Amino acid sequence: MAVPPPQFTDDEIDRLVETFYARIRRHHRLGPIFEGAIGEDGWPHHLATLKDFWSSVLNTTGRYKGQPMIVHQSVEGITEGLFTPWLNLFHQTAVEIFDAPRAAIVGQKAERIAASLKLGLFFKPDAIA
Ligand code: HEM
Repeated sequence: MAVPPPQFTDDEIDRLVETFYARIRRHHRLGPIFEGAIGEDGWPHHLATLKDFWSSVLNTTGRYKGQPMIVHQSVEGITEGLFTPWLNLFHQTAVEIFDAPRAAIVGQKAERIAASLKLGLFFKPDAIA
């Protein structure tokens, strides 16, 4: 019999997004970048977008319709090195909210998307000798 895919509830996704971005905002390097791009009033909208995004990624609901690569191209101050603290905070949050097998899946999705964003944003073919 086929093994059913792991389930990620809306409540868990809400907690993942809320907890993660609360930590992002307090982070000494990431916080200012998000505050600059989102501002005080933009957070409810950003959190709603990210809940749609993770619902689409984890449960293939299709709720998210945006273009992350294009959006990140306009983020003032984003660097390749900042992806490490971003991912560390994300993994730390995921293991608190999900059991170990599901936290591993969530973490792996984030790693893959981060790798593809980094390639799109920072890979310079001309720099290869
Ligand atoms: C150093 C790493 C990162 C930084 C500094 C960063 C920063 C930001 C900022 C400032 C925004 C808001 C942009 C705006 O509304 O104008 C944003 C949006 C977003 N970020 Fe990131 N991000 C990072 C990595 C990631 C990663 C790894 C993911 C996914 C796994 C991700 C997913 C998203 C999504 C889905 C949006 C919403 C895009 C939309 O509006 O449709 N980000 N990010």
